[in-house]
Amino acid sequence: MSQALDEIKIGGLGASRKRVEDNRFIRGRGNYTDDIALPGMLHMEILRSPLAHARIKSIDASRAWDIPGVHLVLTGEMMATRNLAWMPTLSYDTQAVLATDKVRFQGQEVACVVADDPYIAKDACEAIEVEYEPLPVIVNPEQAVADGAPVIRDDKDNQRDNVIYDWEVGDAAGTERAFAQADVISKLRLHYPRSHPSPIECCGSIADFNRATSKLTVYMTTQAPHIIRAAVALVAELPEHMIRIISPDIGGGFGNKVPVYPGYVCSILASILLERPVKWIEDKTGNLISTGFARDIYLDGEMALRQDGKILAVRMRCDADHGAFFSDAQPSKFKIGLLHSAFAAYDIPVAHLAARGTYSNKAPGGVAYRCSFRVTEAMFFQERMMQAAADDLGLDQAEFRRMNFVKDADFPHRTPFGFLTDSGQYAKCLDVGLKAIGYEDFRREQAEARKRGRLLGLGISTMTEPLGAGNSREYDILGIKMFDSAELKVHMTGKAIVRTGARTQGQGHETTWAQIVSHELGIPAEDVVVEEGDTDTAPFGMGTYASRSTPVAGAAVAMVARKIRAKARRLAAHLLEVSEEDVEWELGRFYVRSAPDRGVTIQECAMAAYSNMPDGMEPGLENTAYYDPPNLTWPFAVYIVTVEVDPETGVWDVLKLVAVDDCGVRINPMIVEGQIMGGLTEAYAMANMQFITFDAEGNCVGSNYMDYLLPTAWETPGFELHSEVVTPCPHHPIGAKGIGECAAVGGPAAYVNAVMDALSGTGVRNIDMPLLPDRVWEAITYRRDVSGAPPVRSDD
Ligand code: CDP
Repeated sequence: MSQALDEIKIGGLGASRKRVEDNRFIRGRGNYTDDIALPGMLHMEILRSPLAHARIKSIDASRAWDIPGVHLVLTGEMMATRNLAWMPTLSYDTQAVLATDKVRFQGQEVACVVADDPYIAKDACEAIEVEYEPLPVIVNPEQAVADGAPVIRDDKDNQRDNVIYDWEVGDAAGTERAFAQADVISKLRLHYPRSHPSPIECCGSIADFNRATSKLTVYMTTQAPHIIRAAVALVAELPEHMIRIISPDIGGGFGNKVPVYPGYVCSILASILLERPVKWIEDKTGNLISTGFARDIYLDGEMALRQDGKILAVRMRCDADHGAFFSDAQPSKFKIGLLHSAFAAYDIPVAHLAARGTYSNKAPGGVAYRCSFRVTEAMFFQERMMQAAADDLGLDQAEFRRMNFVKDADFPHRTPFGFLTDSGQYAKCLDVGLKAIGYEDFRREQAEARKRGRLLGLGISTMTEPLGAGNSREYDILGIKMFDSAELKVHMTGKAIVRTGARTQGQGHETTWAQIVSHELGIPAEDVVVEEGDTDTAPFGMGTYASRSTPVAGAAVAMVARKIRAKARRLAAHLLEVSEEDVEWELGRFYVRSAPDRGVTIQECAMAAYSNMPDGMEPGLENTAYYDPPNLTWPFAVYIVTVEVDPETGVWDVLKLVAVDDCGVRINPMIVEGQIMGGLTEAYAMANMQFITFDAEGNCVGSNYMDYLLPTAWETPGFELHSEVVTPCPHHPIGAKGIGECAAVGGPAAYVNAVMDALSGTGVRNIDMPLLPDRVWEAITYRRDVSGAPPVRSDD
């Protein structure tokens, strides 16, 4: 009789285990960078530029040096003497660490002061006198490419204009031919505005250079400690084995904590110069105006359609505003990230996409905010375009999507831009969503309400995104391949520690990695401790962003557990005195095939690895696995929102939201639901209230939390989540697909489509996000589209 353990009881796959990390978080016992105080530690503050574009005529720091308690003032000139005024970015560009020649965006780092405490350092920053000569400012791509536009990056030898790249993908001629056959051509133009990840914890670092050992230890808020170690080795020219990067607890990252920021570099240099620990903690405004922005992309597209609703081709053109430095991570050969994952869920024969990136006088932008490298923009455009096309054809929104979906039997499916999607049940997800929202009833109610002047709307958004960057054939960052790793040590009592190269920022890895070990080995999850974030102890990994942890590091955890199980099997055969071929496995136990009652537990095997191994076997039970994913994982989701818009004020309220997510096998259903709710909340904020933009002088408008609103429980709508559709990933060891960002990626279009649906018949085709009441009111009142593109008037 089977003596297999009950997987849910031991906290394995599918168990909604409470998050172990919350034990410390909810008690206020987390250990964030700012909690760390080292003996002799000094504090660093940054002086930022008030202007968006100006030549620096002079910097006089003499008054700052004179302030008691000041130990060091760093300027670009001083950095330049150490070849550190500029640093390489993750996109083969350069970025100023401290400005030397010009400032190129408001909030750019101009000087740093290191002092006994942060208040002295801040006062000393204000004592630095900088003379600026203002230059014309560029805040959008149209201005960037206009005749006579000032060249922002005149520091670069061969840069004659403001264009960073001009790329294309797909079949231009084939798309042209398909458009010639079209019955209807549907068009859409929109701007996906800048948004900011705004983690609750800002960026920061404590650099601690020890002259006696020559070792540099840096505690920092990074989502990718090993990449930072490599970057520090390259930028500061320090030997890699003498650098230790530790990411302690991180209060949210959302992509904001992937880039290398000047503050990190300056604190490191200051510590080396002063031979004392130097702490830099960014303030909220500093974080909002200077660290990695997301989106800021102008999308223009058209769809060739047959009258019956079949999509024949898609053509997209995009202009991406990257700000003053091209600094977001670019993992694919296509320079605008994975924008070409657009329309992957639909069976479209041919497509073409052209993308141009430009510089502007704004902080570096384009980071993947809870998103896989521009997938959010791709999905937003896709679903807004689908809505516009269905409307143009006079077809039902749901039916139009269903008839164009990739069918279940057609996987793996090659998209017109060359991706290979792995699996899915798209129509089933849609059916579950339509039933849950009460589609037919709502449409009737909507028509009735319209007669009485009430504006109801329903928005559908679907998304499939490439998660798990990525296989080493196609993905790298600065040439470093994007595999991940896990190390598993099973102690003699059967307790274990697993370490990965990923780094959780709140996603719950400490809970879920233990569940994977439990699933593979039958060791109770509570007996497995998870450790991440220290480059001296964790195996190499590319970090956590783009929902890549489960697809890559999570897979590595499963693979290393399987290596452990293979050795444990040999130990079991030895203990049971049978050959290895006669040994069978059930959860937590090996047994003799012909005598199932004779068995040994995984814990007994662990003890034998230290006390009773067969002759010639290497002692111990530990191993490491490096996992190079064969493909990306492709989760799918349908989000359906109903809203009511008040025609008098433009205010809109969510009536109901239904989410159907298929992320393959769920490791921890409760954590997955938390991820979806968080994503839908952020999507709601992007669609509804997060306003951060620039005026004609390049002033950042919305650089504080009075203007840039973070959603709270009060305004966030309720969500109805559905988990009944599960399509295991065919190439992931436990069938899991990523989930962390799906709802943030697919959600915005659902809200916007709902509001646009409420406005159908008014002739309004697009309102740019955020759909603030005044924009919706303007659209209703004047029956016109409303653009959100900068520059805005300063008094907006
Ligand atoms: O890379 P990141 O951790 O942000 O994203 P993810 O891999 O999608 O995982 C987010 C959280 O959800 C992690 O704790 C995962 O282990 C968990 N998860 C899960 O329980 N089941 C899945 N199929 C996918 C993720």
